[in-house]
Amino acid sequence: MTINPTQRDLISPISGRWSPYRFDGRPVEQEKLAQCFEAASWAASSFNEQPWRWIVAVRDDEKAFSRMLGCLMEANQSWASQAGALVLTAFRRTFSRNDNPNRVALHDLGQAAAHFALQAAAIGLQVHQMAGVNLSQIRTEYQIPDEFEPATAIAIGYPDASPPASETEKSLAGRESAARQRHPLSTHVFTGTWGRSINW
Ligand SMILES: Cc1cc2nc3c(=O)[nH]c(=O)nc-3n(C[C@H](O)[C@H](O)[C@H](O)COP(=O)(O)O)c2cc1C
Repeated sequence: MTINPTQRDLISPISGRWSPYRFDGRPVEQEKLAQCFEAASWAASSFNEQPWRWIVAVRDDEKAFSRMLGCLMEANQSWASQAGALVLTAFRRTFSRNDNPNRVALHDLGQAAAHFALQAAAIGLQVHQMAGVNLSQIRTEYQIPDEFEPATAIAIGYPDASPPASETEKSLAGRESAARQRHPLSTHVFTGTWGRSINW
């Protein structure tokens, strides 16, 4: 389904991807989750290091789900509590082949997260990524080793299409219905020198 007012004809997972604030609380099928993680694993990465790591908590496992929910900033907890699963992301700071710093590890994690999000959109799910997490709590709670950095969280699930009932839901629905926009290419695609827009 096309959600985004794209200027050009794009592949449907891109034109149909968005970050919901209202999930309907349905669990996500294990096979669909596995597809998203496999899609992420097929991302390109520097030296094929695959520096990404994921910790997943599915909604059916209430204890694990609420433990992970507690690692999110409060503003994110309110809506992410209705996701079908939560994921914490982390990356390895160094290359495993020589322990040199990997300055593109976060880039590669982001690229894998994009694969994850696009696979999800292609199979009827949506994800909402979050920088708003408590990094030190995550490190302690999940005993993340020193060579790894926790980074973000991802809520994944089925968007709630029903009319909002409560005031909270109305406010979340309002955030979802805000105009979807992107900067025109002329503002960030340059040629020749910094700031000279390409004329497409
Ligand atoms: C790395 C990253 C961190 C984000 N952190 C948050 C967050 O903490 N809370 C939130 O509500 N949305 C967060 N978002 C969602 C963005 O606000 C959202 O992607 C952006 O507004 C564009 O909307 P769209 O994804 O629906 O196209 C984050 C997105 C990304 C990629």
